[in-house]
Amino acid sequence: MGGVGLCLVIAVGLAYPAAPQGLLGIGSRPTDAEIAAIDISVAPDGEGLPPGSSTVDDGARVYGEQCGDCHGAEGVEGPYDRLVGGQKPTKTIGSYWPYATTVFDYVRRTMPFDAPGSLSNEDVYAVAAWLLWKNNIIPADAVMDRTTLPKVTMPNRNAFIGDPRPDVP
Ligand code: HEC
Repeated sequence: MGGVGLCLVIAVGLAYPAAPQGLLGIGSRPTDAEIAAIDISVAPDGEGLPPGSSTVDDGARVYGEQCGDCHGAEGVEGPYDRLVGGQKPTKTIGSYWPYATTVFDYVRRTMPFDAPGSLSNEDVYAVAAWLLWKNNIIPADAVMDRTTLPKVTMPNRNAFIGDPRPDVP
């Protein structure tokens, strides 16, 4: 039995020698700059938030210029996802999202939908501030930065139930 296994290993080894790089002729090794551009995760506790800060007022301007056409002037009308208000089961930032830091992470990585990654960090702090204010979560004079944003407590924070089952190996 052991001999058969060994033979198989040798046979497979002969049939499939280590693949030389570029064997399939597709893809390319990402540059450090390409990796840095997407290595931007922000954790729930704010780890990974960049420097910079902004206000609700600035956010109103950025939102009007960059977001309102798709999400409505008040963040309610659409045509795309509603961002403001709503009661469960209508899921919005205010009614559903457990962490304020996710607003920063999500908007920076995905929005505007047709130009993701185009906003400065200041602009992302600004729209995050405006969205949190519109959802009655922070006051109109709040300043959002890497210290204040993680301290914002979201209304639905404690409505999530952890799954106690162990991970399936
Ligand atoms: C061209 C249209 C368009 C523009 C402009 C746009 N969005 Fe969006 N947005 C979308 C679409 C479409 C989705 C749904 C994406 C999905 O489900 O994968 C979305 C989803 C979102 C969500 C998630 C909503 C949720 O609760 O799941 C947020 C937050 C958001 N957008 C914020 C913004 C902000 C802030 C801006 C401006 C900086 C912006 N969007 C600009 C089209 C747009």
